[in-house]
Parts: sequence; C-alpha cells; structure tokens
Amino acid sequence: MDLRQELEALQRAAEQAIAGAGTPDALEAVRIGLLGRKEGRLTEIMRGLGKLPADERPAAGAAANRSKECITALLDARASVLAGGGAAVARVDLSMPGRRRWRGARHPVTLVVDEICAVLAGLGFTRARGPEAETDWYNFTALNTPLDHPAADMHDTFYLAPGVLPRRHTAPVQMRVTQQIQPPIRIVAPGTVYRRDPFDASHAPAFEQLEGLAVDEGIGFVDLKATLTEFARQLFGSGTRVRFRPSFFPFTEPSAEMDVSCVLCGGGGCSACKQTGWMEIMGAGMVHPAVFTNAGYDPERYTGFAFGMGAARIAMILYGFPDIRLLYENDVRLLEQLVRP
Ligand code: PHE
Repeated sequence: MDLRQELEALQRAAEQAIAGAGTPDALEAVRIGLLGRKEGRLTEIMRGLGKLPADERPAAGAAANRSKECITALLDARASVLAGGGAAVARVDLSMPGRRRWRGARHPVTLVVDEICAVLAGLGFTRARGPEAETDWYNFTALNTPLDHPAADMHDTFYLAPGVLPRRHTAPVQMRVTQQIQPPIRIVAPGTVYRRDPFDASHAPAFEQLEGLAVDEGIGFVDLKATLTEFARQLFGSGTRVRFRPSFFPFTEPSAEMDVSCVLCGGGGCSACKQTGWMEIMGAGMVHPAVFTNAGYDPERYTGFAFGMGAARIAMILYGFPDIRLLYENDVRLLEQLVRP
C-alpha cells in the first residue's frame, strides 16, 4: 500500500468512527486514536514522511495535511452535534416535508363586508364612502344629535382637533350623500369607525361598520322591514326569522334594533344566543325629518330608512366564534381556521 492509499483508507475509517461516536468521551477516544501525539495513526503516518525520498516528501506532506484538516473538521462538527449545538449541515434531514409557502387570503371581516355589500347590491344599493376624520357637524349635529348629547361627550369620542374627530359611526355618510345627490337614493357605506370603548370580547376601539340608506317619495316602515328581512334571509339563510325591537337613535324616528333567529340553535336557545334564541345584528329606523332638513331636502316630500351594522359582529355570527379580539390579533394560524360552518 502506498501512502496515498493508506491515507484514503485511514480517512474512510475515520469518517465511520467519528459518525459512530455517540458521546463526547467516545469521540475523544477516536480523536486520540487518529491524531494523538503518541499512538495516533495519522501522527504515525506523518512521522514516517521523513523516511521518504526527498523528491516525494512535499506531495506526500501536502496529502497528509489535507487528511488532517479534513479529519479535524469532521471531529469538530461531530463534537458540536454531540454538545447539542447542532452543526446545521450535520442535521439536515432530507426526508422532512418541505416548508409550506404562505398563501395570502382576505381577512374574515373583509369577506363579510363584501358579502353584505353583494347582498345589498342585489337589492339595489350602491357602495358609497365618506371620510374617517369628520367634523362634529357631520358626526353629530347634522344627525340631530346635539353636542351635549351623551354620545357626543368627550368620554365616548376621540378628538383629533377641536371640532374634528375620527367618526364614531358611518351615519355621517348619510349626510354627505344626501347633500350631493337627489333621491331616489339607495347606498351602502362600509368603513372604519372609532370609539372610546374598552377592548373586550365584544367591543373594539376601531371596527368596520356598514351604513345603509334608502330615500325616495313614499318610503315607509314596511319598506324598511321588507328590505332588511330579505337581507337577513339572504345573508343568514332562507329559514331565518327576524324581529324588530323599539329602540332610540337621535337621527331616526321610529328606531329599532333588528334581531335574527340564532343561526346556531335556530331559536331554541343555546350559549351563543345566551338562551334567548335571538341575535342582535343592527340598528335601524326611519330617517328623522330634521336630518332631511339639514341635508336640504323637503321632509314633507321625501322619507327614507337607514340602518347600521358592525361587520365583526356579523362575522362572529357567521363564523361562530366568541371573541372579537381574535379578528385583531391577526394570528394567521387562527384566522385560517375560521371557516363558515
Ligand atoms: N349609527 C348607529 C350606531 O352607531 C346605527 C344606526 C344607523 C341606527 C342608522 C339607525 C340608523 O350604532
């Protein structure tokens, strides 16, 4: 066996011995067996280099040094694996499944906003928009809400500057639209609204609301009921029952809250509907004559109805989850699990 064959054989044996060393002590024994000063096999080979003819020495020396470097690197890599640090290279497991690529998806609230707008589009409502920073005239005064009304109180509303606030509902869009166009009007205005509410399971300081408005000659409460009943049946299912409870909003008269029969139990009573069989989905009412006067309409000629709902609340009903905060944490692993039952 010449020196080159000897080195190759030694290297193969070294690779096996190093890979087979299961503890740091075993690895140290392998190291001594190869590189130990007294009886290391590579050390012995290197010591023998001096006996070679002078013209063979440089090439043989270089080959031996390469073997030493290689064996030292293998020993170091194995040592760090055994120490738990894990040389990345040594740990690659080619049988592992590949990493999944992220696929973007629309947020459940966006999906619900689009779905609501699509249902209302089928009933003749066009999308409209308004600014998120509003004057208190549009947000309150024009909507028949005096600034000393509790809703206008500083405790309920953020202010950006004197007289300017992030709108606390989408109702100002009613006023902006009626100022710009003449009846007949049928619009739905989705957008973000802001409130100084505690951030808990059912409230958020910023959320998506949808405002609906229909104005024409001869519109009555029966139109409100018929439109919103059809809306609820299309959104929640054809068997859905609705009920309207008297309520109060300064900008509608009469005013109502609309409930739908619980989508989970169908009305029998369960934990999702707090045993009532009903789920509240929106506020609504006939537009107050004072609002029409502020818009420059003749309230003797025109009547209309308006409604407002929170997209997150509807998403919670449709997707069946109990905590609104989930929609804000934006943990994709959770959001991905929200599917319509
Ligand atoms: N603006 C009301 C709210 O913030 C909802 C509403 C809109 C009620 C339109 C009646 C008419 O809750």
